[in-house]
Amino acid sequence: MAPVPACPTEAIPLRTTTVDLAEADDFIRLHHSEHPELGPVEHRLAEVHAEVAATGTYRHTEAELTFGARVAWRNSARCIGRLYWRSLKVRDLRDLRDPKEVADECVEHLKLATNGGKVRPVITVFAPDEPGQPGPRIRNEQLVRYAGYRGPDGGVLGDRRNADLTDHVIGMGWRPPTQRGPFDVLPLVVEREDTDPYLLELPRDAVMEVPISHPEYPWLADLGLRWHAVPAISNMRLRIGGVDYPAAPFNGWYMGTEIGARNFADTDRYDLLPYLGKRMGLDTSKVQTLWRDRVLVELNRAVLHSFAEAGVTITDHHTESDRFLTHLKKEEAAGRSCPADWTWIVPPMSSGITSVFHRYYDKRELVPNFFPGDTKGVCPIIH
Ligand code: ARG
Repeated sequence: MAPVPACPTEAIPLRTTTVDLAEADDFIRLHHSEHPELGPVEHRLAEVHAEVAATGTYRHTEAELTFGARVAWRNSARCIGRLYWRSLKVRDLRDLRDPKEVADECVEHLKLATNGGKVRPVITVFAPDEPGQPGPRIRNEQLVRYAGYRGPDGGVLGDRRNADLTDHVIGMGWRPPTQRGPFDVLPLVVEREDTDPYLLELPRDAVMEVPISHPEYPWLADLGLRWHAVPAISNMRLRIGGVDYPAAPFNGWYMGTEIGARNFADTDRYDLLPYLGKRMGLDTSKVQTLWRDRVLVELNRAVLHSFAEAGVTITDHHTESDRFLTHLKKEEAAGRSCPADWTWIVPPMSSGITSVFHRYYDKRELVPNFFPGDTKGVCPIIH
């Protein structure tokens, strides 16, 4: 592999802080209160205190890890898909910190999650940050991301959102396909402070993709649009009871608008509306013709139609809005508040005709939760 380019920023700071005992206590108490079969909490609290006093951190039991990861999803205020939080499959790989092993298990994660198209929510938890020893980090924001190649004119071929990551991996020695395209899957980059970052090209059979076609416009299939089946966020930090797991990739399944109304439509992503408007023969000369709105509907129909044809799990924004309100009711019935961020919950199209639009939500932040990772600008290599 080619040498890693010079990096302008600082190294990952070593975590020397010890675990916040109050946060650990709250979590252990929450676990016991929601699982009365575990019995009285005092014994476990004493164990945790002793371990933190001796080592600065503590190791979650398998049950705590599973519960913590599921509750982190339940507390994710931006996620509309939380009705199924209890079904999250938790892979306990806390013993893995070697970048190559981490990357290989990300591939396994994708295969398990894809499940032949019947997408399953999965999280894989790698080694935590510990005093004096940070865990591994995944630089890619998702396990599957498409390259964005910058052209000389400021244009980008592919997903503009990933242009920086694309530059970075090319600098690390990644060779794009000879024929560059708009949907080239980027390699994974796994970093740790004390080793070289590891680059892994995802095997083809780990990345299921759906070719996009339209139920009535045959020409749309000829455009060669596609999208990957599994959205697996890989750069967020999972925090459970004061312990940080910096590499804990997790996935659900797609809601169509994420692809049709954002990834394909945003002007800083694939920006397809102007082209499609012309292909549909719409009057694109004035915004008042609502040509963009009309394209958006057809593009979103195409996404839902294509995933269904391919037998890949997907959901629409109406169904998912109703499910979210069911989730809220269930949480309320369980005596819990459900944190939710209106600006993320409300779908990016047809907002007023979805059920989630017509109310306010509790904005409190709760832990366990997922937080923005700190891989950005981190240079793993200081020679
Ligand atoms: N919006 C992101 C994307 O389009 C995925 C975020 C997570 N989405 C999900 N359905 N779990 O790739």
